[in-house]
Amino acid sequence: MVDFNVDGKIAVVTGGTRGLGMHCAEALVENGAKTVVVTSRKAKACEDAKTHLEEVAKKNGKSVKIIAIPADLSDEAQCEKFYEEVAEQVDKVDILIANAGATWGAPLEDHDIKAIKKVINLNIVAVFHTIKLFTPLLEKAATNEDPSRIIIMSSIISVLNNDAVGTYGYLASKAAVSHLGRNLAVQFAPRHINVNNILPGFFPTKMAQGLIDMGGQLLRETNPRGRLGEKEDLQAALLFLCSKQANYINGVDLPVDGGARLNSPASHF
Ligand SMILES: NC(=O)c1ccc[n+]([C@@H]2O[C@H](COP(=O)([O-])OP(=O)(O)OC[C@H]3O[C@@H](n4cnc5c(N)ncnc54)[C@H](OP(=O)(O)O)[C@@H]3O)[C@@H](O)[C@H]2O)c1
Repeated sequence: MVDFNVDGKIAVVTGGTRGLGMHCAEALVENGAKTVVVTSRKAKACEDAKTHLEEVAKKNGKSVKIIAIPADLSDEAQCEKFYEEVAEQVDKVDILIANAGATWGAPLEDHDIKAIKKVINLNIVAVFHTIKLFTPLLEKAATNEDPSRIIIMSSIISVLNNDAVGTYGYLASKAAVSHLGRNLAVQFAPRHINVNNILPGFFPTKMAQGLIDMGGQLLRETNPRGRLGEKEDLQAALLFLCSKQANYINGVDLPVDGGARLNSPASHF
């Protein structure tokens, strides 16, 4: 039997209050984590996420400390304050999931430069900043046998070139953040920190809902697996990448898209 788990681990999930970040947080809670920290901008979303994750823990008979801290990670000072608040409560971090992200779509002629800057600032600059801040805590947890893990939530779009709705900043940011992941995978491996990118296809979340409303049927029909991504698809990939058995998996771009990248429908919109 292969038991992929995160027993006793301390994990931080940015954007962990809903969507894919919440799927990750739930998987960590259900599969052995000792402490799970979630963050997003809205205090109420953080409170609700903490309550929800505590319920998930209880339902699964797990004892997990949930810490929820509101912070806008695209703001340098708030990102630093977030790190400091986490560092006051934990002495190491085994798993950092850099998941918080945003998108914006508009035709090139109407595309506000401020929107490009905002997306790039969160999807790449804030990811770099968060990783930079958390590296000392990740190093404290790191061992050769079971390295600490950084998971970057990139996107399958990072390896495609279709842009149906003018998400210029988003596509560029995801290609950039995937590159950051591969770069850090090489630099951090000697420090016993593995870095891997997850490349989700379309999953129903607040962020993806607009595109799914527009072209959901086409997205399903052209997906080789005939459906959109589901919570368990992402959770399985995450648990594998965070498990001690995957300690030799480093610097990968793992598509979780049902093969959609091989039959991309985006240009048909
Ligand atoms: N859903 C998909 O199909 C899909 C596909 C490929 C990749 N992805 C990637 O997966 C990640 C999660 O996306 P999602 O679909 O789950 O989106 P989502 O439902 O919009 O969730 C985004 C999360 O990030 C938080 N967030 C947004 N701006 C933030 C900021 N400035 N500082 C801190 N937290 C912030 C949000 O909470 P607040 O609003 O409270 O801040 C929320 O918790 C993103 O990086 C996205 O690019 C998603």
